[in-house]
Amino acid sequence: MKTNLSLILALILLLAMTPACLAEEAYSADSDPLLQGVIDRAQAFSENHLGYPVNDDIELKEFYEWYLSNDIDRVMMNNAGDPNDITANHGALEVENEVLRFFAPYYGFEPDEAWGLISASGTDGNDHGIYFGRHYLEDVTGMKPILYVSTESHYSNMRLAELQQLEVRLIDTDEMGAMIPDSFRTALDPERPALVVFSMGTTFKGGIDDQQAINAILDEVAPPAVYRHVDAALFGGYLPFSEYADKVDRRVLGFDSIAISGHKFFGIDDPCGLFFTSKEVMAHQNPYDISYLEGSMPMINCSRSATNPLKFYWIARHKGAEGFKAMADKMFEVTAYLKEKLDEIGWSYWISDPCSTTVFFSRPDEATMQKYFLAPDYDERFGGELAHVIVMPNVGKDLIDRFVADLQTQQTTLEPAA
Ligand SMILES: Cc1ncc(COP(=O)(O)O)c(C=O)c1O
Repeated sequence: MKTNLSLILALILLLAMTPACLAEEAYSADSDPLLQGVIDRAQAFSENHLGYPVNDDIELKEFYEWYLSNDIDRVMMNNAGDPNDITANHGALEVENEVLRFFAPYYGFEPDEAWGLISASGTDGNDHGIYFGRHYLEDVTGMKPILYVSTESHYSNMRLAELQQLEVRLIDTDEMGAMIPDSFRTALDPERPALVVFSMGTTFKGGIDDQQAINAILDEVAPPAVYRHVDAALFGGYLPFSEYADKVDRRVLGFDSIAISGHKFFGIDDPCGLFFTSKEVMAHQNPYDISYLEGSMPMINCSRSATNPLKFYWIARHKGAEGFKAMADKMFEVTAYLKEKLDEIGWSYWISDPCSTTVFFSRPDEATMQKYFLAPDYDERFGGELAHVIVMPNVGKDLIDRFVADLQTQQTTLEPAA
């Protein structure tokens, strides 16, 4: 009786929803205004975009052709499982493993000592870093750590610390967005384990925490145990292929984990990322042996994309280290060109470090902000309203010329405070 009633209710609901929610025979994506809006935005974005760290030089057309021509689009593939120790495989775990083995040495991990993941995003990588760091420290000391992170770090780190119910100490930054070592020293509790999140390129200014200076303080104060996670969402993509490779090298800096976005420098068209830690860190985690997955599931997510590892593999095989180096070289060349052009028109700008391609400056008018999709920020130390350009591999000198010509036609009176 109860089942019949539910069935009738479901039928009534279905009829009430018709026709708006059911498939229309005459439906054509070509005349759908909602989809047209997406196409228009994508086009405007790819022509003028300068404000966010994405590489619009996406070279995946042949990948999609390969994918479709092999009918993989008809199959639900899922990389649930550990790509470092493959048991059951419902997707492309072996391809993910190969990508991890390719990239691990660029961050100073030997492929056999590394434990990695193609994450869902930079945020997901930070989530794993904070989660593994917390459990590592708890396991070796029996105490809950304090998380130290700078005020200009990406907001995901603060949110994740809140989700993981960690006590957070926010460390002040200098004007270029880097953690102030003396403020870190003052905040550091010598009695509790320390989970430090370093920013290798803050989102707005490209600020770089001085890991060596902070490490020296950690050595001196010697809290019961230390775990260092590096948030290198954008910079971690190109630095390994530049003269600044040391800045993301674990052998030089001694960090325990690192997170990098895949859809920033590497030019993957869907959010994803790389995450690396060591097998030594993983030995202190709960392995979560899951019988129906026939293996250990120490990572946070169960289902994971199998197509992003395929795209990562595709790009790594086609470009190789040489291709990534050419992309990084171009970013530095175009950044130098942007600086030269801003100097020519006398527009104030700042850059945190020679390894940065994030150039921030006095904010132009709203029309320019909109046209170039510029990101706004505010800092009294630079006279107030700011915007930035992030020179990514797709940004050419022609786009810089157009942008600087627009700036020149509306020179603002905003001057830096000092
Ligand atoms: C420094 C930094 N960390 C983390 C993130 C978050 O990365 P994702 O967007 O891949 O989650 C960003 C995004 O811009 C970032 O700039």
